[in-house]
Amino acid sequence: MKDLRDPNFKRITTLELANEFIDNSIKELKEKIKDDQVILALSGGVDSNVVAALLNKAIGKNLICIHVNHGLLRKNESEDVIKTFKEKMNLNLIYLDVEDYFLDKLKGVSDPETKRKIIGHEFINCFVAEAKKLNGIKYLAQGTIYPDITESKGIKAHHNVGGLPSHLNFELIEPVRLLYKDEVRMIGKALGLPDELVYRQPFPGPGLAVRCPGEITKERLNLVRETDYILRDEFNKCGLSKKVWQYFTIVPDYKTVGVKDDKRTYLNFVVIRAVNSVDATTATVEEIPYDVLFKIRDRMLSEVEGINRVLVDITPKPTGTIEWE
Ligand code: XMP
Repeated sequence: MKDLRDPNFKRITTLELANEFIDNSIKELKEKIKDDQVILALSGGVDSNVVAALLNKAIGKNLICIHVNHGLLRKNESEDVIKTFKEKMNLNLIYLDVEDYFLDKLKGVSDPETKRKIIGHEFINCFVAEAKKLNGIKYLAQGTIYPDITESKGIKAHHNVGGLPSHLNFELIEPVRLLYKDEVRMIGKALGLPDELVYRQPFPGPGLAVRCPGEITKERLNLVRETDYILRDEFNKCGLSKKVWQYFTIVPDYKTVGVKDDKRTYLNFVVIRAVNSVDATTATVEEIPYDVLFKIRDRMLSEVEGINRVLVDITPKPTGTIEWE
């Protein structure tokens, strides 16, 4: 793959360099876009968040963001996006609630790659249908970053919003395409985005679907969402969130027998996974202290109805991939 980075490219390691990049980028964007409109799929991930904030500064109301809530996002994720971008930054943001539509499309589907394909395909369908309602848009902005261009991943069909059909005839705007993740974060900081939106752990395009192995149901999706919320909360409290690269929960499509209040239960179990990695191609397992694990376990078992067991996945990559599907 051709290296698009100029050998003289100054790595963005300080807020000062970030501000310099932002100034140049705004100038270029204004010159290119002029009075035309730009559309952007705002997922809530670091890259699209930063692109939204950057374009907002350059072209303001001529940027139209679409946030597709496919129902596979973490707890409060859509609310956070709306709060920051619509309420605080006053961005032009269209919110699409298509949770039921996605659940319907995924009904009866348990094969991981088929799930991924459906989610990718339907995501594009929803985005395109909404984009078509808006007339005269010339540009499509994307949060493509440098590793997206240079890396080819062959293990799973990774779904990113990148693959929009070319017949849409949008011209592409990719303002952070020459940057690495840490540089994109620095730009986000310099643009004043809150830490929650800048320092996010990696999150797969198909979202919680890959943490709900087997056929997805609303109930199990909810178990993933609630247990993930507790895990993140406890990792924040004990500081592990600043140290661990990626951590989440999985709720497999399998029930086991348990007991509660002298009565038999037959419920799902939850798996905790916390890994460290540099580029996601390999990963080691974080040794979560037992007192933290016990606190998490106690909260999950008492606060989340529908599970009776808590397990920890201690598998490195290889042999396991980071996600279960
Ligand atoms: P795996 O599970 O392949 O994941 O070890 C490596 C990294 O990629 C994320 N991941 C995905 N990201 N679409 C994405 O955008 C996907 O389909 C997808 N699957 C996995 C995963 O969370 C990890 O950080």
